[in-house]
Amino acid sequence: MTGTERRGRVQGKVVVVSGAGGGLGAAFVHALAAEGAHVVAADIDPAAAATTAESAGSDCAALQLDVREEISWRTLVAEVRRRHGRLDGLVNNAGIVIRGGITDMPLADFEGVLKVNLTGTFLGLQHCAPLMRESGGGSIVNVASTAGLTGVPSISGYTASKWGVRGLTRSAAVELAPWGIRVNSLAPGVVTTAMAARSATAVRNLTGRPGSVGEVAPLVVHLISDDSTYSTGADFVVDGGETATSRLPTPVD
Ligand SMILES: NC(=O)c1ccc[n+]([C@@H]2O[C@H](COP(=O)([O-])OP(=O)(O)OC[C@H]3O[C@@H](n4cnc5c(N)ncnc54)[C@H](O)[C@@H]3O)[C@@H](O)[C@H]2O)c1
Repeated sequence: MTGTERRGRVQGKVVVVSGAGGGLGAAFVHALAAEGAHVVAADIDPAAAATTAESAGSDCAALQLDVREEISWRTLVAEVRRRHGRLDGLVNNAGIVIRGGITDMPLADFEGVLKVNLTGTFLGLQHCAPLMRESGGGSIVNVASTAGLTGVPSISGYTASKWGVRGLTRSAAVELAPWGIRVNSLAPGVVTTAMAARSATAVRNLTGRPGSVGEVAPLVVHLISDDSTYSTGADFVVDGGETATSRLPTPVD
């Protein structure tokens, strides 16, 4: 680096992003890489992870990861250790939604959502925290949702999983603080991605529009960076005012 080159806000940090094959995860990879991080783009879909990593630049690598599987996390952490010898940040972003009413939904669908969104987040914490500790500490962002701040009909598994992610975040923040690891949760409102299109969520917020991934990613950079060293065990909401009031304007489809 020359003297005139700008140092990024997460310069040199090694960061893993799960669910990086598209949507918010891909945007997080791009934003972190643009601020100088070595990012590992991890996704159950290896081709999608590779596309994200290639478009984010030479400091990014792609790895296949199924967040539900312990062996998959073990393999990922071993690979990060081999390539970088350290880990400074983790964004537990992979998530799925399955629609269905409480009295109709097959148990397998309810449990399937919990397995990715909640168990996947737990496994990420469990497997990544020890390497972060060895690295002198780090920062973890668990992606929740405004569905984890309210009750949402027809996606009870998703809602339960995201409330769970917020609870897990607080427990982890307390437990991992002695290792110098901060843990926060991020609660986006409706953001234009494949998931939002699939779940056909009506937009009800103070802006009258869905958010873009570019309106969420800077907050993740902030939370992974050393600009946020006084923040841990907290929820960071980015929802266009969706949860600001119970007197919201008429929904926009
Ligand atoms: N888009 C929204 O409106 C919105 C709002 C609030 C919260 N969120 C949360 O943000 C996160 C990202 O959502 P998105 O909208 O970008 O979704 P998306 O469907 O566009 O992308 C999700 C990514 O996760 C990957 N994935 C799915 N299962 C996986 C698994 N078992 N292991 C590893 N990767 C897996 C998919 O392949 C995909 O690349 C999720 O946790 C979601 O709940 C999204």
